[in-house]
Amino acid sequence: MDKIKIIGGFPLHGTVKIQGAKNAALPILISTILFNDQVTITNIPILEDITTTLAILKELNLEITPVSPNTFTFNSANINKFQASYDLVSTMRASMLILGPLLSKYKQAIVPLPGGCSIGQRPIDLHIKALQKMGAKITIEHGNIIASAKTGLLGTEINFSKVSVGATEHVMMAGVLAKGKTVIHNAACEPEIIDLANFLNKGGAKITGQGTSTIEITGVESLGNTNYTIMPDRIEAGSYALAAIATKGEIVLENVKQNIFGDFLTILEKTGAKLKWLNATSLQVTAPKEIMPVNIVTAPFPAFPTDLQSPFMSTMLCAKGDSTIKEEIFENRFTHVPELARMGAEIIIQDSHSVLIKGKSHLTSANVKATDLRAAFALIIAGLVAEGETVVTKLHHLDRGYNDVVGKLSGLQAKITRDQ
Ligand code: EPZ
Repeated sequence: MDKIKIIGGFPLHGTVKIQGAKNAALPILISTILFNDQVTITNIPILEDITTTLAILKELNLEITPVSPNTFTFNSANINKFQASYDLVSTMRASMLILGPLLSKYKQAIVPLPGGCSIGQRPIDLHIKALQKMGAKITIEHGNIIASAKTGLLGTEINFSKVSVGATEHVMMAGVLAKGKTVIHNAACEPEIIDLANFLNKGGAKITGQGTSTIEITGVESLGNTNYTIMPDRIEAGSYALAAIATKGEIVLENVKQNIFGDFLTILEKTGAKLKWLNATSLQVTAPKEIMPVNIVTAPFPAFPTDLQSPFMSTMLCAKGDSTIKEEIFENRFTHVPELARMGAEIIIQDSHSVLIKGKSHLTSANVKATDLRAAFALIIAGLVAEGETVVTKLHHLDRGYNDVVGKLSGLQAKITRDQ
């Protein structure tokens, strides 16, 4: 079984190149279904979830041509299948986003219901209700979402009862070729949604308000040839910044941008870390001598992102005092706590949404297993500071969202290897 081994106690020093954002690339690649001409997309991250997305698009006979490891061309002119397979959709929930683009352009789609996952039940009621309000006929049969829209989708007003990144992206994509105007109220404001809108607008879409809670999409006849560069991955960047702070090191994050982090950088500075922009795309992160404990609550952008909650927890184990985390987005995103406890962490789950983290933990190495992609990185951060050799397994979780962690951390002077 694939395992990562880490000898703890070595501060991180050096430079790490941050890749394109997984959570921007996934909807952007899926939205190539909407185009009538070839599009070229670059800065695509090399990840398992991207491989899965490419496989799903190829199943529809969307032509995909690799230009370089991070650049592909996409041509949907010959799409003639409108059904995705269960084994692919079940490994990556975001693939159900193909529903809206297929409905909007081809008026039909069959997509397996995505399962839940370790962090929560992950319902899709907001997606389904919004598409039905746009005129889709949707039934659930034998675990499949069977959808049709004989006269295409119609623009309408969508009021989301809760902020949802995926549902916002779904309606945005569905509205691009719909008849008339779609207005999304209580839309998510994540930078990845802005990236998706910018890509679609470059291809001829008419989207305004992206990045605010009200987004307007005016339907157009078709989308044409364009090219686009995916934004940097703020979650990968934040993960390495938290590792640098936990190990009392100093690193430079390259290929990042200043406007993608929301409140996260301000919270990093509350730990005592020093942040310095060396230029528009390079951020130096210097750990403090003593890490200050910081209480956080996860919430939609620009608040602290849920995807950095577990890495942040590992860093708070090294703080000079106690801290609390409230996880307000997902109902079961503390699955890494028992694994960290095996390394000597003292974390008290106060209720399903909040934990108390005892600082100044003396972490010792252990065999631990990843439970979701961000928890995998949290265990690696703990291994970087624990005494002895920590072994992390169930690495398929890690590979979904992080590329070449061993190479990147070795380049930052960590003592880390990966073998079968
Ligand atoms: C996106 O998931 C991200 N995934 C997640 O990143 C991220 O954690 C999440 O947004 C929150 O920021 C991608 O972008 C591919 P939501 P998504 O819809 O869209 C509830 C990672 O680690 N909800 O914003 O699925 C839902 O249960 C992944 O990279 C409904 O109730 O998240 C949750 O409580 C993990 N009904 C809340 O909304 C719905 O129809 C926010 O979920 C949809 C969602």
